[in-house]
Amino acid sequence: MNPIPVIMDVDTGIDDAMSLLFAVRHPGIELRAVTCVAGNTGVDQVAANTRYVLDAAGAPDIPVARGSARPMLVPPADASHVHGADGLGGFSRPSDRRMSPLPAVELLRRELMGAVGTGERITLVPSAPLTNIALLLRTHPEVAAGIERIIFMGGSASGGNATAAAEFNIWHDPEAAAIALTAAGDLDIPVTMYGLDVFNDVVVTRDEAAALRSGLDPAAQLAGSLIRFACDIFGQDEATIGDAGTVCAVVDPDGLTTQRFGVRVELGNGFARGQTLVDRRTWTGDHKADPHSTKPTMIDVALAVDGRRYADLWLTTIGG
Ligand code: BDR
Repeated sequence: MNPIPVIMDVDTGIDDAMSLLFAVRHPGIELRAVTCVAGNTGVDQVAANTRYVLDAAGAPDIPVARGSARPMLVPPADASHVHGADGLGGFSRPSDRRMSPLPAVELLRRELMGAVGTGERITLVPSAPLTNIALLLRTHPEVAAGIERIIFMGGSASGGNATAAAEFNIWHDPEAAAIALTAAGDLDIPVTMYGLDVFNDVVVTRDEAAALRSGLDPAAQLAGSLIRFACDIFGQDEATIGDAGTVCAVVDPDGLTTQRFGVRVELGNGFARGQTLVDRRTWTGDHKADPHSTKPTMIDVALAVDGRRYADLWLTTIGG
C-alpha cells in the first residue's frame, strides 16, 4: 500500500514530539509538512522543538512553518507545568533545520491545493489548539478538496483536563475549535475527535522507556526520555503516548472505536468554556427545536481504544 500523506499541526509539546517521531518513522505515513501553533508553549519554541524532534527522528527536509502565536480572542496560556519550561521536558536542542518562509496557513494551502492538482487527498492531524486550522478552512475553503479527513487530538465526551469541563487544546482557543468544526461540517470534511476519552488509555511503562533509551538511535532515546519525564511529572510508573495515539489511528484505524455524534464547542465564559458538548442523545430530530444558534457538526468521536495495541505499535515503530 502507498503511504498515507499526512500534514501535522502541532504545539510541540512532549506528546506532539512522540507523535512526530512515530509519523516520521512509520512506513505507512508520508509526512508532507508540519505547521506550528501556540499551545503547550509559545509558537517560536514550538517551532524550535519541532525542528529538533524532526532532526532526532532523522526526517528528510520536511517543511516546517510558523503559525498563529495566539488564540483568536483570548491571550495564550501555556502548559509548562506539564511539558517543562522549554515545552519538551528540558530535552530541546538547537537545530540547523530551516523554517519554511511561508506562514502556516499558506503552507497548508499550497500543500493541499497541490494535492488537489494531483488528485490526492491528505490527512490532517492537528494535535494542538485549532487556530491554524480554523483560519485555513475559513480563508481557503477550496482546500477541502485536498483533505481526506481531519483526525484531531482534542476535546472529550466526558470530562476535561485543563478545567473540569474542557480539554487543553480546545480550552486554549475555543473560538478556533468552534470555527474549525463548523467549517469542516460546512465543507463536508470527515472529522474524527481523538479526545480524553481515549487519550490516557495508551500507556508505556518506565521499563519500556528504559529499553528505548538503552540503544543508540536518537529517536528512541528521545522517546524514552520523554516517557520517563512524563512518568516523573505525574509520579507514576507509566505514561500516555498522548497525541501519538492520533497517528497510530491513522495507520491502524481498527484499534479505535468511534461513534458519530453532533458536537458543539461551549463558548460562554462560565465554568464549561471550551467544553466539547457531545450530543449523545438518540433523538435525531433537526435542530430547529434547539435553542443554540450554531448547528452541531456530526463527527466521529473516539470512545474506546485498544491501548496495548497502539502502545506496541508505537514502541515497535520507534524502537524497532
Ligand atoms: C493535550 O494536552 C496537552 O498538554 C497535550 O499536548 C495534548 O495535546 C491533552 O489535553
